[in-house]
Amino acid sequence: KNIKLIEVPSEIGAGTRGASLGVDAIKIAALDFMSNFFVHFPSEKIQTENNILFEPISSPYAKRVRGICTMYERVSKSVFNTIKNSFFPVVLSGDHSTSGATIAGIKMAKPAARIGVIWIDAHADLHTPYTTPSGNMHGMALATALAEDNIEKSVHELDKETEKYWRHLQNLGGISPKILGEDIVFISLRDFEREEKSLIEKHGMKVITTAEVRRKGPENIVRSVIRYLSDCTDIYISFDVDSLDSSISKGTGTPVSNGLREREVEDLISKFMQNRKICCFEITEVNPTLDKENLMAEIAFNILQRSVNVLMMN
Ligand code: ARG
Ligand code: MN
Ligand code: MN
Ligand code: MN
Repeated sequence: KNIKLIEVPSEIGAGTRGASLGVDAIKIAALDFMSNFFVHFPSEKIQTENNILFEPISSPYAKRVRGICTMYERVSKSVFNTIKNSFFPVVLSGDHSTSGATIAGIKMAKPAARIGVIWIDAHADLHTPYTTPSGNMHGMALATALAEDNIEKSVHELDKETEKYWRHLQNLGGISPKILGEDIVFISLRDFEREEKSLIEKHGMKVITTAEVRRKGPENIVRSVIRYLSDCTDIYISFDVDSLDSSISKGTGTPVSNGLREREVEDLISKFMQNRKICCFEITEVNPTLDKENLMAEIAFNILQRSVNVLMMN
């Protein structure tokens, strides 16, 4: 496969500042390892709206949603063009809000595809502005692709303007929903709210715990996930670094205990990459301002490098 790197120094979807430095931190990690990985691939850097922390249209339930809309448009267009030009998009993003845009871009490029999603993350990111506990839009990325408001579980009233932007995110590219709930697989999910749990149960999304990965081993997990997604024509992998255990994932905004080991994630992702349905890969949520010695970015870089090596052989 021909790889293209899409760099998105996103930041405003997170509640903690600093994730926009994550992409550069991964590049620094490469230099520290004496690797010239980043000179090998064409790349595009997406301009982001990190200066609008205090944008005028700001609901407490969809913080900085206008800037998120702009980012969604740019990122989806870039992913769309990348696929159209027969490149494989590897998205390196700051906060995870970008992944809703990534999925939109895949769907725009392949409208007939049935897209499976492998979400390696401590979180489900299935909130909507009606249910969010934080208002942070990185916790809503997957919900924009699923395009379900989860209004039954609503705890907030939205103003018309916020609602309009939320619809815009859901309807991006004129296709909505972009994925089916049953085509979502969570790996190492362990910190979610009851509103998210009800969506997971309602749609029968697949959840694989950290303990299960450890018990069955990455190889068996990969085989069963690929079998589970056998009706999908294309598969997108979203890797949030907070899926790793909090003992090593200090450099991320929302660390959670009982997560995966570095080796487990590396084995899982590199084995997934051997499958021809994998159509896009994203690494997200590295925040070097919270870290020591750039450890999180080094781990992310190792996983990136090993995954891309496998991709290039396929
Ligand atoms: N569920 C929590 C929220 O909505 C945490 C989400 C964290 N998401 C992430 N991409 N790190 O605020
Ligand atoms: Mn997360
Ligand atoms: Mn929580
Ligand atoms: Mn996430």
